[in-house]
Amino acid sequence: MPSNSIRYSKSMIVIHWLTALAVVGAWLTAEGGRHVVQNPPLLHFSLGLAVLALVVPRLILSLAGGAPAMAAPHGWLATGAKVGHGLLYLLLIAVPITGWYAASRLGAPISFFGLHLPAITAPVQGRPGVIAEFHENAGTFILILAGMHALMAIWHQFVLHDGTLQRMSPR
Ligand code: HEM
Ligand code: HEM
Repeated sequence: MPSNSIRYSKSMIVIHWLTALAVVGAWLTAEGGRHVVQNPPLLHFSLGLAVLALVVPRLILSLAGGAPAMAAPHGWLATGAKVGHGLLYLLLIAVPITGWYAASRLGAPISFFGLHLPAITAPVQGRPGVIAEFHENAGTFILILAGMHALMAIWHQFVLHDGTLQRMSPR
């Protein structure tokens, strides 16, 4: 008998999986260095900005009660999950914004699936700076963290048998 079978709301489940696809897509289409200026990876920008666009309704829905209560609200597992999810949320906001900043510094056109968006800082000559470097590293770190997160979900499901995957499954 699954002990935490209360599911996330339908809209939170849709947003969760669209976000996961957009993060992986953004990572796969990422480019670094001079190439970004000569031939801007517009699909990378669009998928990355989709992550940012999805995090807003997700946070609102979460605050409005779209996320079920944790099965075991205490103990180190619950603390780990809270810290891990918090860090994922932080990166879902920080990675796209620093990417937008990096693209602006490089003077690349910023497009969200054809919709032109303004630069958020002035362009510079040469390297785009420390925030762009943060973006490149955090862009890979979010993928590693999401991978660990997925492994934890699978471990919950198949070792602890507590129905965690059902809470987020698009049925
Ligand atoms: C880039 C990929 C992913 C990101 C950024 C991500 C992010 C998140 C975040 C922030 C939460 C917290 C709940 C919320 O407020 O929405 C969550 C929950 C969850 N995720 Fe993911 N996720 C990703 C991929 C995956 C994958 C591949 C799986 C399954 C193998 C998975 C399974 C789950 C489950 C089961 C929950 C609910 C956990 C609970 O009941 O507390 N996620 N995810
Ligand atoms: C979750 C979303 C995102 C992820 C996972 C991600 C990931 C990455 C990664 C891993 C790199 C390094 C590529 C390399 O060095 O080969 C990179 C570079 C870059 N990304 Fe993103 N990115 C995201 C969102 C964005 C957004 C929204 C924009 C702009 C609107 C953007 C603009 C850039 C730019 C301009 C670079 C090159 C920076 C440089 O050369 O210094 N990214 N991204």
